[in-house]
Amino acid sequence: MFIFEKSPKSVAAEAYRALKTNIQYSSFDKEYKTIVITSSNPGEGKSTTAGNLALTLAEGEAKVLLVDCDMRKPSVHKNFRITNTYGISDILLQKKKVTEVAYSYNKNLSIITAGKVPPNPAEMLASKAMTAFLKEMKDHFDYIVLDTPPVQAVADAQILSTKTDGTLVVVRAGVTKKDEVKNTINTLNKINANIIGTILHAVDNTRNKYQYYYGNE
Ligand SMILES: Nc1ncnc2c1ncn2[C@@H]1O[C@H](COP(=O)(O)OP(=O)(O)OP(=O)(O)O)[C@@H](O)[C@H]1O
Ligand SMILES: [Mg+2]
Repeated sequence: MFIFEKSPKSVAAEAYRALKTNIQYSSFDKEYKTIVITSSNPGEGKSTTAGNLALTLAEGEAKVLLVDCDMRKPSVHKNFRITNTYGISDILLQKKKVTEVAYSYNKNLSIITAGKVPPNPAEMLASKAMTAFLKEMKDHFDYIVLDTPPVQAVADAQILSTKTDGTLVVVRAGVTKKDEVKNTINTLNKINANIIGTILHAVDNTRNKYQYYYGNE
């Protein structure tokens, strides 16, 4: 279960609300409607962050769509305990419509799981069908949060970063190395990704096990 659902008054939930405020107000010229969540390596907290952020953004009036774009190691369906019979891969292959696949998790949050794992996830995410999907979803949702694989492993997150408004880089406290964060930021900068900031995930201290840091550096 997500910390944001389990303990909505916790410091961690408050940190997610602060992140939400930053996303809402950090850009004067441009709205962050489509947001990629990625990190350098596996297991750094991307999917946890994507889930909590989607729940937080959906807390008020905004309509939010969470999409599991990690077709290599899908986990959104497990974290939300929903079916993964069909998902984004089926939509991109034009086998299913969004309305047939999207799961209504609560009043404001819809979820599209990964679906069947295709042989060529990067190609699928790079497709015109994906660009068209994101464009269409922007008409129906205020925020679209994309969970993705790690930047250092495959190109999927980079590909999506070129098609979206902003990218959040998750850094796992005490685990992700400084150079790895630098490399990831460099890789994303090279393709002109709009990096919203980094999130320090899973800070362990006695007062608060979960803590997040938001910033541009
Ligand atoms: N704040 C936290 N404190 C301790 N453990 C955590 C915390 N957040 C997540 N975890 C655990 O760390 C593991 C990795 O988290 P998560 O699945 O969010 O990472 P990921 O970056 O999406 O991983 P992958 O690269 O495999 O997709 C999970 O087993 C999760 O339960
Ligand atoms: Mg994940």
